[in-house]
Amino acid sequence: MSGRLITLEGGEGAGKSTLLQGLRAYLAERGIEPLFTREPGGTALGEGVRALVLDPALRGMCAESELLLMFAARAQLVRESIRPALTAGQWVVCDRFTDASYAYQGGGRGQPRERIADLERWAADGLQPDLTLLLDIPVDTGRARAAGRGEDSDRIEREGDGFFERIRAAYLQRAAEQPQRFRVIDATQSPQQVLADAMAALEPLLAGSKA
Ligand SMILES: Nc1ncnc2c1ncn2[C@@H]1O[C@H](COP(=O)(O)OP(=O)(O)OP(=O)(O)O)[C@@H](O)[C@H]1O
Ligand SMILES: [Mg+2]
Repeated sequence: MSGRLITLEGGEGAGKSTLLQGLRAYLAERGIEPLFTREPGGTALGEGVRALVLDPALRGMCAESELLLMFAARAQLVRESIRPALTAGQWVVCDRFTDASYAYQGGGRGQPRERIADLERWAADGLQPDLTLLLDIPVDTGRARAAGRGEDSDRIEREGDGFFERIRAAYLQRAAEQPQRFRVIDATQSPQQVLADAMAALEPLLAGSKA
């Protein structure tokens, strides 16, 4: 049986990376050792692209370049890493995936949805997650959390609140359009409660994998 693809989505500082660590322990207890990966990144090429798209010096990057770079990294990740894992029956948990392009390059940068859908079909090989956990958080709360990590802000984090409000709205709209795939989690809750909600959302998939 092929593996399951679970993606974590949400704005800056929503708690995706924190949840990923919690899921690692939870799934290991059930004998599932997924491939954990992230976007942009996850491959040598993808990590190179990540450095480019997050580089604060590249202020002049146009929306079209950003969109294509994100999909260049994704094309590589799907073929080099995610597809082979799923085919081998391994589960995959990815910190951001194509929904992030609809939210960031679509909602945030105004790139047309059809253009992203076209890239999704060929560059991402049409790959769809089995389950997407959307960590929803007010923009200011998420940004305050991200700032609290004490790292220098990257090129995308330097955008204004309006950009991040559009991203949040685009994510929520996608979740409303595809309720069978998305679970929206209130990310203002404690890390323990966010993990508990995520585990509840995963239960049907886990039950299915034993069938
Ligand atoms: N539920 C929570 N409550 C309070 N603080 C949290 C919670 N989840 C994560 N944090 C803290 O908020 C900060 C951001 O969390 P994290 O790095 O997991 O977010 P992220 O969604 O991965 O962010 P980014 O989009 O920048 O990758 C971290 O310092 C983390 O410890
Ligand atoms: Mg993160």
